[in-house]
Amino acid sequence: MWHRRQVLGLIGAAALPALPAAAMPRRSLTARAGMARLAPADMPETAIWGYDALVPGPELRVKQGGRVTVDFVNALDQPSTVHWHGIRIANAMDGVPGLTQEAVAPGASFTYDFTAPDAGTYWYHSHERSWEQMARGLYGPLIVEEAEPPEVDRDLTVMLDDWRLTQEAAIDQASFGAMHDRAHAGRIGNWVTANGDGEAVEPVRRHERLRLRLCNAANARVFELALNGLAGWVIALDGQPVPPELVTGLLTLAPAQRIELIVDVTAGEGTEAALAVTERDGAYAAVLYPVDGSARAEPLPAPAALPPNPVAPPGDLAGALAADLVMEGGAMGNMAAAMHGGRRMEIRDLVAEGYAWAFNGTAGIPEAPLVEAALGQTVRLKMVNSTAWPHAMHLHGHHFQEVTGGRAQGPLRDTLLVGRSQTVEIAFLADNPGDWMLHCHMLEHAAAGMMTWLRVT
Ligand code: C2O
Ligand code: CU
Repeated sequence: MWHRRQVLGLIGAAALPALPAAAMPRRSLTARAGMARLAPADMPETAIWGYDALVPGPELRVKQGGRVTVDFVNALDQPSTVHWHGIRIANAMDGVPGLTQEAVAPGASFTYDFTAPDAGTYWYHSHERSWEQMARGLYGPLIVEEAEPPEVDRDLTVMLDDWRLTQEAAIDQASFGAMHDRAHAGRIGNWVTANGDGEAVEPVRRHERLRLRLCNAANARVFELALNGLAGWVIALDGQPVPPELVTGLLTLAPAQRIELIVDVTAGEGTEAALAVTERDGAYAAVLYPVDGSARAEPLPAPAALPPNPVAPPGDLAGALAADLVMEGGAMGNMAAAMHGGRRMEIRDLVAEGYAWAFNGTAGIPEAPLVEAALGQTVRLKMVNSTAWPHAMHLHGHHFQEVTGGRAQGPLRDTLLVGRSQTVEIAFLADNPGDWMLHCHMLEHAAAGMMTWLRVT
C-alpha cells in the first residue's frame, strides 16, 4: 500500500473527490424595520430597516464548499430580494428582481439555497430599490471560511457605511431618489459607521494579530482608509486571495468592494490604534483600537498567502468574445439623448424620469444582453468611462481580471473602480450559466441608468 501522502502527491489535489463541506444550519432572515444606535449615546436611536432588524444583518458563516439555506421573509411594506454579492452562485439564487427571480412581495418569503465555492469575505444586500433599502440598512456579511484558516488571534468583520442623517439622527428620507445625487456622486452621507456604530471601539492588545475583513456597504462613498498603529498586509480583495502585500499608504475601498487584511497591533500599551477614514480636510477613526495589555512579547512573522480558490482564470484572450461598454452622462457630461424603453429620448425627458446615465447609449436595463457568451468562453470587456465621475463596476456571478499589457493579470475582483475618463479592460471566463447583471454599484447611478446584463448560455 502506498502512503497516503505519496498518493496525494501523485494525483494532485485537484483530482481529489470533493468532500461535502459542512452546511450552515438552515436559518431565516427577515427584512424588517427596527431601531439602531448609529449616533452617539446623547442622540436618539435611528429608525432603520435591517435583516432581523439589525445593522448590519447577522454575520453568516459557512465553510468553503458548504451549503447556505436561508428562508428570506419580507416584513417590509415594499418588495425586496437578497443578492449574495461576489458569490459565484447558481443564477436562480442571485436575487436580481426581474432577471433571476420575481421580487418577494411584502409578507411573502423566498428560500435561497446555494453552495459557496470560494473562501473569503462576501456580503448580502437588498437588490430591489437598493438605493433606498441599502441606505436604510439592508445588508450583512457572509463569511466563507477556509478549511484551515490562517492563525490569528481574532477574525473581525468591519462593514463600513455612510448614512445621511438629520440633526435628530433620523435617516434623511426627503432626499431619497434626489436627482442631484443621481447625476453627481450618488448619495453621500454625513455619518460613517463601522458595523452600525458611529463611534466603534474594539479593545486590542499589543502585538495581537487580527484578520480584518473590510467591506464597503455605502451607497456611493469611496473610502480612503489608513492604518494607524497597525502593521497590515492585504491578503484578499473581493474575497479572492492575493499575495500578501504590506500596506504602506492609503487603501481605496469603493462601494461593494472588500479588502481583507492581516494586521498586527504595533501601537504601545495605553495608546490607541485606529482604522482611519481620511478626507480632504483630515482623518477620523472608523474603528478605534485602544491597546490594553500585550498578546506576546514580539510581533509575529509576516503572514503567508491564503490558499487559492477554485476560480478559473479568464483563459485565452486571443479567441475571446470582445465587447465595449461606453459610459456616458451625469453632471458635466454632455449626453444629449439615449435610448430608454425602446425609444430615443432627449436628456430633459430622461431626467424627468430620473435617468442621467447610459451604457452604450441606453439608459436603464436593455432588452438585449450586452454580450451573449457560450459556456466556457472567454469574454473581454473594454469599459470606457466618458463621464466626469468614477464608477464602481460590479459583475455578478463571476470574478474578472484586468487586462494590462495584453494579458489578463492581477487580482480577481468582482467590483472595480473605473476613474473619470479612464478606460479599463477586464476579462473573465464565462463559466457560470445564466443572466448576470453588470452595473455601477454607486446605487443612485445604477438607478439612474447604469445597468446592463450578460447572458451565459
Ligand atoms: Cu452588490 Cu448587483 O450588487
Ligand atoms: Cu457610477
